Order: sequence, then structure tokens, then C-alpha cells
Amino acid sequence: MDNFSSPRGMRDFYPEDMVLRNRIFDAWRAAAVASGFEQYDSCVVETLELLQRKAGEEIVDQIYAFKDKSDRDLALRPEMTPTLARMVVARQGSLRFPIKWFTIAQCFRYERTTRGRKREHYQLNLDIIAEESISAEAEVLFAAVSALRKMGVPDEAYRIRVSNRALLSELLLSLGVKEQFHQGAFIALDKKGKIPREQIEAILREEGLDDEACTAAFNLMDISSFEDAEKLVGEGSPAVKQLRELFALLDAYGIGGQAVFDISVIRGLSYYTGIVFEAFDTKGEFRAIFGGGRYDNLLSTIGGDPAPAVGLGFGDVVVGELIKALDLPATEEKELIVLGYMSDEQRFATTKLAAKLRAEGKAVSLMTHKQKPKAFFSTAAEKGSHAIYIGPDDCEKGVAKLKNLATREETEISL
Ligand code: HAM
Repeated sequence: MDNFSSPRGMRDFYPEDMVLRNRIFDAWRAAAVASGFEQYDSCVVETLELLQRKAGEEIVDQIYAFKDKSDRDLALRPEMTPTLARMVVARQGSLRFPIKWFTIAQCFRYERTTRGRKREHYQLNLDIIAEESISAEAEVLFAAVSALRKMGVPDEAYRIRVSNRALLSELLLSLGVKEQFHQGAFIALDKKGKIPREQIEAILREEGLDDEACTAAFNLMDISSFEDAEKLVGEGSPAVKQLRELFALLDAYGIGGQAVFDISVIRGLSYYTGIVFEAFDTKGEFRAIFGGGRYDNLLSTIGGDPAPAVGLGFGDVVVGELIKALDLPATEEKELIVLGYMSDEQRFATTKLAAKLRAEGKAVSLMTHKQKPKAFFSTAAEKGSHAIYIGPDDCEKGVAKLKNLATREETEISL
């Protein structure tokens, strides 16, 4: 072997990389638990059948698929939502709804690797199933914002762009575009700014829109306020009402300042049916931090009873880049006592001290070989917050010194 890098787009996490990863995962878990979400998990291998859907979605073309030795078509999941739907449908008769579940899922997508896009990433998924109320959207958004706050990311550093596919549907209907063409139109319009306009128009025409409807559909993307939208769909628009309600709820949570209405947010996944959202860094340097929305038909699409659902996926890669770019100070200092000794005579006393301190709940890194003081203290300074070094005198006296490596303060502890 002459190449020791991971396969392209896959990631190795050396101990120093785990510091950032744990900061993200710890914040995710703490925020989800603090908002009453329950954790679930599943295997990264899924049946290909569950993951494949109507063509047109980028994610379906990016699946890592393979056959097992019994010729089963399997795949590494590119996202968690179909698996969640499957797990919920399997117990639809016995679960107490609504449910609020979260997971930290490793996902694989064969993507062009760029800054913020890898072929392997971890995603916090927060989902609420069987809740019709817009409070569900507000609740998942609040948990995502709490996670960002726990990571130390300031509120000004990002904005959540919110729209509603139901509004786009109402608008398309007002242009005379029939409902059966809407899903195709969503997926095509979502590509605005990502691929040339002619290509999008070609897709729209394939979906059955004539030239006039294509131009009109494009122009819809310029709508910038609820009032503008209401001029086309009327004041009683149910979709605008939902959006106004969501913004009012976000204000009640104290996170309204981070949310903005943006009609061009459609999302590339076909299962969304209502409110959709994506969070981006304010400077516009990175791809989406998180994204999600309402998907009221997915459970019935895979064969379950109909149930409304809302959720989001929050990846570790983009937020990791953002934390690095903002140069945010560490959120918590870990305490670790590095424990060493001078010669073999102190080996057992030192080992016993390590066991005693660990039993008290302290984190202790015990040196597994004797060391000279200079070598020991240089290792200790690199790895730990505190150090204890045991020499012959300490053993004789039965006391050792616990040194705080930051303040140089010393306290005595009994051996
Ligand atoms: P998504 O927008 O495809 O949604 O992904 C959600 C987030 O995962 C993105 O905003 C990004 O942070 C991260 N992500 C996705 N692909 C990559 C990649 N190749 N490299 C790094 N990060 C990536 C979904 O996956 C939906 N299933 C979310 C959802 C849950 N909707 C409802 N419930």
C-alpha cells in the first residue's frame, strides 16, 4: 500500500479532529434532549427500494448502492428520513403520537466534494410525526437554534430562510399551472442559481408548462413579501396564514430575528408538502447549515397510514467550517489529570492513585512507563489540565502534589 489517505470524500477523525466533532455532537444531543426529543438509531445500510423515488432528485443519483451475497439490493443511506418513516410505519399501531425523535446519523452521498460537501457526513435529524400544528415547525427550528447557541455560534452569524411549498402551489395555480405539474416545477425551480435557466426551462416544459407559464413561474421567484404574494393569491391564502403563524411563534421563542421569508427556498427533496426552510451563514460563504420542512405524505407513500410530519437535517460539515471561520473560543475546558512517576519503585503507588482518582470520577491519564520530570511535564502540558508526578520522596511522605498546569497552583493529596 502506498496511499494512506481515506477514499475521496470520506473522512478520518484524528484525536484533534474529534474535539470539534464532539463539540458539535454534544451540542446537538443536549439541545435535542432539552427540547424533549427522544433518541433513535438504525443501521446505515438500507434497502435500495426504500431510498429510490421518482427520478429528478439529486439525492437518488448519489446513492452508494451494492448487492449483498444473496443478491439483495442494498445501499448506504444518503439521508435518514425514509428510514425514520419506515421505522414509524412499522409501529404505527402502537406508538403514542405525536412523537418527537432525534438521531445523529452517518449518511453517504456520492457528491462532488467541495468546501462543506463530503461524501460522508453526520446529520442531526429532528422530526415530529403526527402533528398538524405549525408549532411542530417552530419546535424543530427552536431546537436547531439552541444547538447552534450551545456550540457558541452567535445569532447574527446565520439566517433561516423560510418559505412554503403550499404558497408556491397557490401561486402556480393562480398562473393556471395544474396541480399535477407542481412537484416537477418545485424540483426544477429549486435548481435556480445552480444550473442555467435554459436547463430549468427545459425541465419545466417537460413537466408540461408552456412558455408563458415558464416565464411566470420564474417571475414568482422575485416575490419578496407576504403582501406581494397576497396580491396574486388573495388575502385569505392559507399558505400565507401558516407562514405568518410560524413567524409569530418564532418571535414567541425569541428566535424570530434569525428567520426571513424567502420564496426561492424550495428544497431539492420531493417529499416536502408545506413549510420549508434552510439556514445559511450571513456572509454567504457556505452551503446550507441545516434544512428541512413539512412532509405530510411520506408515511402514506411508503405504505403507512397518512400522518403529518415535520423535520430537519443539520449536517456536521458546514457548521464545523463555520465554527472554524468564526474562530469561536472553546465552549468548555476538559479537566484531565496526567499522572506519572519517576522510577519502578513508585509504579504501584501511582497505579493505586490512578484507580482512586478515577473512582472519584476524575479523568486521569496514567503514564504507562516511568519518565524523567522534564519529559513528563512536557507531555502533561500538552495533554492535560493538571499533573501529578510521583517521586521517591512523595512515596515516603505518603503525599503527592496536584499541579494546576494553567495557574501553577499546587494542592496536596494523600497517596
Ligand atoms: P438535506 O438538505 O439533503 O436534507 O440535508 C440536510 C443537511 O445535511 C444539509 O443542510 C447539510 O448541512 C448536510 N448535508 C447534506 N449533504 C451533505 C454532504 N454531502 N456533505 C456534508 N453535509 C451535507 C435532508 O437530508 C432531509 N432528510 C432532512 C429532513 C429531516 N427533512 C425532514 N426531516
